[in-house]
This record gives sequence, C-alpha cells and structure tokens, in this order.
Amino acid sequence: MTDWEPLLKPTLRSVGAYVPGESLDDLMARLGLTEIAKLNWNEGLWGPLPGVEQAVTDALDQVWAYPEHAFNALREAIAAHTPARAEQVLPAHGIQALIMTLVGAFVRSGDTVVVPVPTYGMYAQASRVAGATVETVPSPGLRIDLEAVAAAVRRTRARIAWICDPNNPTGARLEGDAWAAFLDAVGPECVVVADEAYADFVEPADRIRREDDVDAGRPVVILRTFSKIFGIAGLRLGYAVADPALLHYLDSVQEPFNVNRAALAAGEASLARPDALAARREENAAVRERFAARLADAGLHSLPSAANFVLVELGADDLELAERLARRGVLIRPGSEMGLPGWARITVGPEAMMQRAADELLAVRAELTAVPS
Ligand SMILES: Cc1ncc(COP(=O)(O)O)c(C=O)c1O
Repeated sequence: MTDWEPLLKPTLRSVGAYVPGESLDDLMARLGLTEIAKLNWNEGLWGPLPGVEQAVTDALDQVWAYPEHAFNALREAIAAHTPARAEQVLPAHGIQALIMTLVGAFVRSGDTVVVPVPTYGMYAQASRVAGATVETVPSPGLRIDLEAVAAAVRRTRARIAWICDPNNPTGARLEGDAWAAFLDAVGPECVVVADEAYADFVEPADRIRREDDVDAGRPVVILRTFSKIFGIAGLRLGYAVADPALLHYLDSVQEPFNVNRAALAAGEASLARPDALAARREENAAVRERFAARLADAGLHSLPSAANFVLVELGADDLELAERLARRGVLIRPGSEMGLPGWARITVGPEAMMQRAADELLAVRAELTAVPS
C-alpha cells in the first residue's frame, strides 16, 4: 500500500484531509426523509431564472466541442449588466475556483494573509494549504472592523486581505466611506479581494461600485457568482473583475476551458432576465424580513441581513437544535461550525419553505427550552 503522507506537501498534511459532511442522499436515507428544505448552504433556492433551463438544453448538442476558451459572449453579457468592461472580466467555475486561482497566483509559503472572523471559511483554508499564515481579525458586534483589518495588513505586511461583502455568515454590508478609507489605509502592496457572492441581493444603488476601484488602479479583485441569486450553483459559474494586466496572469494559473458549455449558456441566459432578477431580489428581501419578524415575535433575535440568509441567535444548543430539525426535514447551518455557538445561519427561500422552517424551528426550540415538570 502507498503511504501518501510523506509524499504530500507538508502544508496539506498540517491542514488535514477534507472532511465532507454527510451527503444529502445518505442523510435522507438515515432519517427516512423524502423531502428536505436545504437551508444550510445558501444556494439560490428559487432555482434558475426563466429561460435558463432551455438555454442549457440548447447548448447540449455542442458538448462534443471544448468551450470557446475566450468566453467572449459571457464576458460581453457581464459587461452589459454591470459597470465592468469585458476585458476586466475573468470567468471561472465558481468563486471557489477563483479563490484557489488567487492563492496560486499570489501566496507563497510563509506569506501572511488577513481574514476577518467570522467569514466564509475557504479564504483561510485555501491560504493555509498554500503555506500561508492566516492572521484573523475579530469583528466586534459581528461587524467587520476594517480599521483593524488594515492595521493587521500593515503590521504583518500581508499579501492578501479577504473581505466578504455582504459577509457570510452575518449578512452585514460594508459602508462606502469605510471601504474607501480601508483601501487608503491598506496601501498598494496588499491585494484586497472583495467577495461579492451575495451583492446581487442588495439594490444596485446601495452597492459599493468596486469597479471604480479597479478602474482607479487599486489592487482590488472582485469575485462574483451565479450560485446565489441566479440559482445555478450546480453548474458552477462565477467570475472575477480586475485589472486586465492581472487577469492575464490569473489565466495562466487557471486550467484552460475551465467553464463548461452548459454553464456559459446558463450564465448568458440568466443575464438576459434583469426584470426577473429584480423581482427575485425584492421577493428574497420580503420573505427574509417576514421570516426574521416571525422569529423575533417568538423572542429569537437575528442580525439585519442584506443577503439570502439570516444569522439567528437561538438561545439553545445549536448542534442539538440543528440535528433535531434535520430529523424533521429542515437543514440549517449550526453556528458552532463557524465559531458561533448558540447561533444558526438559515438560508432564505420561497415563502412556503420559510413558513415551514419557522414552524419546525420554533417547535424544536420549544422542546429544547421546555422546563421539565
Ligand atoms: C462568501 C461566499 N463566497 C463564495 C461561495 C461559493 O461560491 P461559488 O459557488 O461561486 O464557488 C460561497 C458559498 O457559500 C460564499 O458563501
């Protein structure tokens, strides 16, 4: 038998093997469930926009051919629907792939990267695998402290600062003034990665226009995805917006033909429905606020969220509550997995699903907090 440990890179050995959670099929079989509300991974639960499934079907007769590697049609479509120019856009199979690409391009073993906590776990994970030291910066009141992040960047001479806005798992959004001051404070020697996976849930007029930072020559890389509001996580599609001079290098780190034909067709068709997108943004916000208000009426506080999820303070053991909810067919993300014991992150989806989730959550919480007679 091959002993893989000595062959692996030491950084990978110290990070440890990837431990996938229980698969959905295994979970359903274990609990004897036929239907599950999957509110644990922040996928876009409304699914693809109208016209997208047909576009994917239509692309299937071309699957014998490698995708057109410049991805021009998708880049043009993105440029038509965002302030980015086509040459500033780099498609990839999801933000996760782009995080690996950025780490591959910038992080050398022994470098430091700065990550506010709590946030999306992959920035730290990917950086550690590359041998980086991860400097974490606490977020008082669960809001990213940009001044403290900038101070950590300067103190450690960090290579990358990873900022998620709106942040996962809090749903909190950054202010434009604070962002501008942050870029000034960080200076030109640290790459600032802005993960905007959830920015599509924010009204366009309220978003920070980071394309202006890219145009101004700041060391900013924006990451976006089709996995959230566009509802096609299963097709794996995202993109970076950055200086074309940088994209040129990133392209040599990514594998060629990395975006498949079905995803390209789905991305273009998704961008062709700005009307349906705006309606979905409104619906998500309305359902989210109703869900949060229902929990608040029952005494459960959640943080104001700009995204398709809410972070709820449970007043109960989050792991136990999540397990009991799973047995009732509702999956949520326990806060303990994100350094927030006693909390849970709950994805927002269509109204009926959220009503059921609220019913079950409140019932399980009542079980857990009942005083034994
Ligand atoms: C902040 C953030 N970035 C990126 C991703 C993953 O995006 P993608 O599906 O494009 O890889 C997630 C998924 O949960 C996320 O929460």
